Amino acid sequence: MLQNQWDTSLYEGKHAFVWKHGEELLQLLSVQPKERILDLGCGTGHLTAKIADAGAIVMGIDADVMMVEKARQNYPHLKFLVADARDFQVNEPFDAVFSNATLHWIPDANAVIRCIARALKPGGRFVAEFGGKGNIQAIATALDDVVRENGLRSPEQLDPWYFPSISEYATCLEQHGFEVRYAVLFDRPTALEDGDAGLGNWIRMFGDRFLLGFSTEQQSRVIHQIEQRLKPVLYQNGIWRADYRRIRVVAVKKDGFT
Ligand code: BEZ
Repeated sequence: MLQNQWDTSLYEGKHAFVWKHGEELLQLLSVQPKERILDLGCGTGHLTAKIADAGAIVMGIDADVMMVEKARQNYPHLKFLVADARDFQVNEPFDAVFSNATLHWIPDANAVIRCIARALKPGGRFVAEFGGKGNIQAIATALDDVVRENGLRSPEQLDPWYFPSISEYATCLEQHGFEVRYAVLFDRPTALEDGDAGLGNWIRMFGDRFLLGFSTEQQSRVIHQIEQRLKPVLYQNGIWRADYRRIRVVAVKKDGFT
């Protein structure tokens, strides 16, 4: 996996929809007072804080140092650690692991789920939402086509994303001792902030690895060409909508699995 280096100002300033949409997932988590909850891929900590507000004892982890630093600045009373979702250990098991908009960045789902299972008490729950099969199909296709047409060879080798189907992901969970209680795949067109600049901001934030080999001028041209291609499908009344498709799961760790 290529490690992301997020621009936390761009993330906080123009991509608040990431955690705002996560609030629905919190209802599914249904926090009980004094529960120990791990927020996996906590970003700048906004949902971690909501979990704490609901009465849990919460810890946030994220692989990105800058995100964790920003989370600590935002919420100095909460605990945040830098950790890799594919390889982390906890001192004391949790009642629940929560994860919003993170797991599509980590193709090694087996490693992640193994760590999550290890971090949970028997009967503990895993509640997550991320990009599912078919996520950002229009954006990814236009991005791939345009960078290729502008001279980037094999952009597929830069593809960092993992968008599983329900059956693929549920099978993986079951192999690691989880019982899947709820799983759904649904379209969630997502309005991007900043009007006309919305798609460009999104590409610069989340698709930056496809632009790195281009000069600043070429990058602007690439983004303009992608916008032209996607305007008929993703732009209406001054708003860009990303063609998000989410997978949402609740799974419980069965007794007898360590
Ligand atoms: C998503 O939230 O689905 C997503 C965000 C950035 C890149 C790819 C997918």
